[in-house]
Formats: sequence, C-alpha cells, structure tokens
Amino acid sequence: MEAVDKRADGRVDSARSLGSSGSSTDSLRAYLQVGWNSVHGWLDRYSATVIADLTQVQREHRIVGAFGEIGVHHGKLFILMRLAAPEDRCFAIDVFDDQHLNVDHSGAGDRVKFLSNVAYWSGSVDGVAVIQQSSLDISADRLLGEVGRCRMISIDGGHTEQCTLNDLRLGEAVLQERGVAIVDDCFNEEWPDVATGVSRYCL
Ligand SMILES: C[S@@+](CC[C@H](N)C(=O)[O-])C[C@H]1O[C@@H](n2cnc3c(N)ncnc32)[C@H](O)[C@@H]1O
Repeated sequence: MEAVDKRADGRVDSARSLGSSGSSTDSLRAYLQVGWNSVHGWLDRYSATVIADLTQVQREHRIVGAFGEIGVHHGKLFILMRLAAPEDRCFAIDVFDDQHLNVDHSGAGDRVKFLSNVAYWSGSVDGVAVIQQSSLDISADRLLGEVGRCRMISIDGGHTEQCTLNDLRLGEAVLQERGVAIVDDCFNEEWPDVATGVSRYCL
C-alpha cells in the first residue's frame, strides 16, 4: 500500500478528477480508449467490450454481488471490471512476488504495478481484497468471508489442468446462481491444459 501512495502521487488525483467530473461510464470509456493500451497484460478489445456489456446486463437483471479475478498480473482486465462496477466489492488473487508458485510461467504478477495501475485508473485501491497466494491454497470460505458471494469471476491464473480445474471449482463455490465465470485461453493452442481442465470440470 505504501508503494502505491508513493507511485500514485499526483496521478491518482487525475484519475479521481476523471471520476468526479464525469460518470463511471466516462472513466470506463477513457480506460478503453487510453488505459487499456498502457496497462500491460492480455485482453483483446472485443473481450473487454463484451465483459463490460455483460456487467451492464447483470445490473439490468439485478444480478448483484462481488467480482474478482484469479491471476491479475498488472490489472489490465481487473481495472475494466472495477470501472464497470465501481461500487462492488472485489478480490484480486495472484502469487505476485512468489513466482516460484507460478509453475507454468503464465504472466508474472507484480503487486506494486497492479496496485499503482488500479489506483491510477480507478482513483483508489479502496475495497480491493488483494490476496497474494496461489489459488490452489485458497478456500471458498476465505473468499466468501472477504467479499461475499460473487456475480462475476475471471479465471486467468495458473494455466495448468490442475489450476484450471481448481479455479473453476472455486468459482462455482463462490458464484451466485446466475453468476458468470470467464475462462481465459480456453481455446488458445499455446495453453492446451486450460481446455483439458475445463473438460475435466464438465465431466
Ligand atoms: C496470464 S497472466 C494474467 C493476465 C491478466 N488477467 C490480465 O488482465 O492481463 C497470469 C497471472 O496468474 C498469476 N498466477 C500464476 N499461477 C497462479 C496461481 N497458482 N495462483 C494465482 N495466481 C497465479 C501470474 O503471476 C500472472 O500474474
């Protein structure tokens, strides 16, 4: 947190003023136009738009709850989900500096960059439950205790079969009835174990 305060000096104010002078829709639009390019990570523009729209559809259908992501890296998708629903509780799971737990080397989470990016683009890191741990070691009760039941969860942590299966089961346990799980790289031939994990989950 201390690192965020140092790094975010001044830059947080500009993001806050964006939020206070305009609506959260303006902040989301600004992020999609500018921020999306400046935050390192993996999220194509089409997926970003669909996920933002999905959040709006959930709101219209009164599907409420928290959101969160397993595998945030520098926050590229997480920030989008936060700007789409700034009032919601949320969690961010990543091994961050404990990269020896990132067994398949998918991305490389950086806690300082993540918090700095979230602070800059959403105005603060208030209400973000940051959990620096392998998702393999996190229980559903812990997550429910941190943020309550979820309406949306992005699964983009370890890309092994074991992690994918674990994260889907964790997601199922914390999502509410009409909640949505987003699985990254399911059809990416560079990460075939994700599809295997999804298939095993569906068996
Ligand atoms: C592909 S990156 C995530 C990209 C991110 N969703 C984005 O928006 O750009 C995968 C992330 O998962 C983290 N990770 C890898 N194995 C993990 C595990 N077992 N538990 C939690 N996080 C993990 C990595 O440190 C990395 O930051």
